Amino acid sequence: MTIATTFEIFFSCAPGLEPFLADEAREKGFQGVLPIAGGVTVNGGWPDIWRANLELRGTNRITVRIAQFRVLHLAQLDKRGRRVPWSDVLRRDVPFSVQVTCRTSRVYHSDAAAERITRAINEELGAPAHKDAPVTVMARIENDLCTISVDTSGDLLHKRGYKESVNAAPMRETMAALFLRQCGYDGREPVIDPMCGSGTFVIEAAEIAAGLNPGRLRSFAFEHLATFHAPTWTAMRAPSSQPITPLRFIGSDRDESAVRMSQRNAERAGVAAIASFRHHKVNELKRPEGRPGLVIVNPPYGDRIGDKSKLSGLYRSMGETLRAEFSGWRVGVITTERALARATGLPFLPTSAPVPHGGLRVTLYRTAKLP
Ligand SMILES: C[S@@+](CC[C@H](N)C(=O)[O-])C[C@H]1O[C@@H](n2cnc3c(N)ncnc32)[C@H](O)[C@@H]1O
Repeated sequence: MTIATTFEIFFSCAPGLEPFLADEAREKGFQGVLPIAGGVTVNGGWPDIWRANLELRGTNRITVRIAQFRVLHLAQLDKRGRRVPWSDVLRRDVPFSVQVTCRTSRVYHSDAAAERITRAINEELGAPAHKDAPVTVMARIENDLCTISVDTSGDLLHKRGYKESVNAAPMRETMAALFLRQCGYDGREPVIDPMCGSGTFVIEAAEIAAGLNPGRLRSFAFEHLATFHAPTWTAMRAPSSQPITPLRFIGSDRDESAVRMSQRNAERAGVAAIASFRHHKVNELKRPEGRPGLVIVNPPYGDRIGDKSKLSGLYRSMGETLRAEFSGWRVGVITTERALARATGLPFLPTSAPVPHGGLRVTLYRTAKLP
């Protein structure tokens, strides 16, 4: 078996958001973009993989497919697993771990399959196996077909590297980026989040407007692979000089500690000059000077029985404020309950399918420009 120079690369995302991630991948110049369940596949080589980790905002993890073979029993997995040219991708001095999922296959015991693949890599390459290794090999055995991939991201990609502090229910940056995209946000208008929590939407929008790559502040698993070329990566991640945006990004929250946390997060992200945070309730929100843009917010969700009636008052007053103050602006509200969205009285457009988020299912409710 030889390893090719172009691969099938998989960008994972929350189910329901695939079309928006595909849109981002096309916009950023990736080839062969194909949305599939739970993500998007593209074709490319290692520099494309590094660039995807650096530039894509909407994907949670980027894996690369390195081998595929049929397997009917564990002895065959052992034999075929040893033929994968591991040294083309993995390094003998870097620990690895193996994760296996089995579905509708004769090899159905994922722990036994992981043990065979681990032993194959360890004995053929000489690399040590470790459960907290910086490199993860992933095998999916489905309908007797074994697909071997390598995780190139490491920590999930919503971890941009600037957030030391998060509040109780933060939105993942990757999901926030795809909701911004779904609202038509392209970095050319101001954004306000009046229940900003840890500041996710505001910082994400400010970074887009400032042309900052989401992966600029973190490290990746691909840096530990045999295919890594440090000089190319250093050149790729070097910041390009961007025009300074005149736009402003504003978050507010009734919780003073959330406001301080957002401010610190914005400072670490390097967007504090264009993003600011204020301490007040949503019904005290005032329209800022200047051109209209997007208000995007995920208010508290009704995840307990009895919450809904308490929360509908909050959604109603938010809706009244937005309708009174934000003529010409678009609004995006992410919530779990249609009734809560309706309580805002905002004129929502048809919605897409709900998206899983922290054990709940959330839907983005969008308006056109408010009258
Ligand atoms: C689900 S969290 C938002 C999470 C945020 N998008 C993030 O990524 O960190 C909801 C936020 O709404 C705030 N909140 C609740 N009631 C509010 C009100 N009446 N006015 C302003 N903020 C409020 C809470 O303090 C909390 O930070």
